[in-house]
Amino acid sequence: MKKLRSQAWFGRKDRDGFLYRSWMKNQGWPHDLFDGRPVIGICNTWSELTPCNAHFRELAEFVKRGVWEAGGFPLEFPVMSLGETQLRPTAMLFRNLASMDVEESIRGNPIDGVVLLMGCDKTTPSLLMGAASCDLPTIGLSGGPMLSGKFRGHDLGSGTGLWQMTDQVRRGEVTSDEFFAAESCMHRSKGHCMTMGTASTMASMVEALGMSLPGNAAIPAVDARRNTLAQMTGRRIVQMVHDDLRMSRILTREAFENAIRANAAIGGSTNAVIHLIAIAGRIGVPLCLDDFDRLGSALPCLLNIQPSGTHLMEDFFYAGGLPGILRELGEAGVLNRDALTANGKSIWDNVASAPCWNRDVIHAFKEPFKADAGIAVLHGNLAPDGAVIKPSAASPRLLQHRGRAVVFETIEEYHARIDDETLDVDENCVLVLKNCGPRGYPGMAEVGNMMLPPKVLRRGVTDMVRISDARMSGTAYGTVVLHACPEAAAGGPIALVQPGDMITLDVPQRGLRLEVDDATLAARRAKWTPPPPPPRGWVKLYVEHVQQADKGADLDFLVGHSGAPVARDSH
Ligand code: FES
Repeated sequence: MKKLRSQAWFGRKDRDGFLYRSWMKNQGWPHDLFDGRPVIGICNTWSELTPCNAHFRELAEFVKRGVWEAGGFPLEFPVMSLGETQLRPTAMLFRNLASMDVEESIRGNPIDGVVLLMGCDKTTPSLLMGAASCDLPTIGLSGGPMLSGKFRGHDLGSGTGLWQMTDQVRRGEVTSDEFFAAESCMHRSKGHCMTMGTASTMASMVEALGMSLPGNAAIPAVDARRNTLAQMTGRRIVQMVHDDLRMSRILTREAFENAIRANAAIGGSTNAVIHLIAIAGRIGVPLCLDDFDRLGSALPCLLNIQPSGTHLMEDFFYAGGLPGILRELGEAGVLNRDALTANGKSIWDNVASAPCWNRDVIHAFKEPFKADAGIAVLHGNLAPDGAVIKPSAASPRLLQHRGRAVVFETIEEYHARIDDETLDVDENCVLVLKNCGPRGYPGMAEVGNMMLPPKVLRRGVTDMVRISDARMSGTAYGTVVLHACPEAAAGGPIALVQPGDMITLDVPQRGLRLEVDDATLAARRAKWTPPPPPPRGWVKLYVEHVQQADKGADLDFLVGHSGAPVARDSH
């Protein structure tokens, strides 16, 4: 048997071998567990402050079963957990920090292979990024979506239902009592958001990249088959160690292309753009913003799921899950069929005969749910390095629009003014929000889907063009232009927009134009000053080193990978 990495700790016959084994034995491990069998790290983002991942200790026990069965030695370890709903100012501020925790925890410990337990939005990219920088044999396991929310006989989707009901309250159609009654009905089981928000999108990306066993994306968290998948994942990682099946053999350019196309076909979150670029940057695969438009924007959306459609993740699972989508892509000739996956087979081997049990949920490629639905990348003098929009979640009538800018310099100014009845705004205006990008917020919060002014809502208008350097929750919808690059806090042109400027959005032509002449913009730029830097701590490090959204918003010094070697002992 090949000598594994963990034997550099446990296989020693010297003082340090005593040290590495003896302290571990305080947990009751017998001596023969240190005999050279694969040591499997189970990287756990369990936290009661990350409710979407709160069942992960139980899930880890099923992974351990599989590892034991296959002859491995499972060791569970915690890493920083990022709860999207609780963590302020935004979980995204800490994605890169968590990835550093993951990377150093894997590299510094006697681990031969890794199972990544991922669920809530940022826990998936942070674990993939950190693990990619080590490049050990690694497999992903998502925690699974919650059961469908149910309120008064109807489905109620995570996030999406909240945004809809908030507007209904603001229009006076729903009372506060009714609104708060929905709170217990939306989230009624373990798991992550059950709309095609960022968590479900990223779980689908894990599967489309080939980084998990087939079926990872959609099995509900409480379905017994989620535990079965966990056990099978534990079995599989042991063999991946024997086969030295490292992340870099799976995460190829072809795999990322499959993920981009799958994201279009599921109507996935715009957040996938930033996360996939960041993961690709760690593993060394060239991937840029325009790849999303070139590969995905002309593809149809096949999945009828909120926020683009009506169903929820539970329905997606019963209809066949992501394999049903990938089969459609493969038969349409837009899947790299030979891409290797974690089970050692090609992605096409895994999905070629995948069934579809409900065509109202998973549409055929030839009869799609929505045409031309992938993420569109916009360019123009308002976003020279690009901005994104999700046409499947936008109003078709607004995809070509010219309007007067109503400008908010900060999120605080937006909150202070948006409900003001004297605000000079109508439904033809374009709402512009600045200073919410990676450096500006800081952390690039999900505030781009600005609520509309009440006086516009009362006229029955439900959508307006909105532009910002922020992100948007994957559960949100609307004609929302996001990730304007460079951001305002980095001196991007969005910083120079003033109230009353005319803006033209032309999604079919991929244009985003501020109708102000260059001389006027230069004069405004001369008066612009950057925001003061944070004084200390993580936020200071982050702001000094974070890249723009088109580069994945990773820290500049984290891009790339160092592998897993550690030269020196600890004592
Ligand atoms: Fe955790 Fe949506 S808040 S997945």
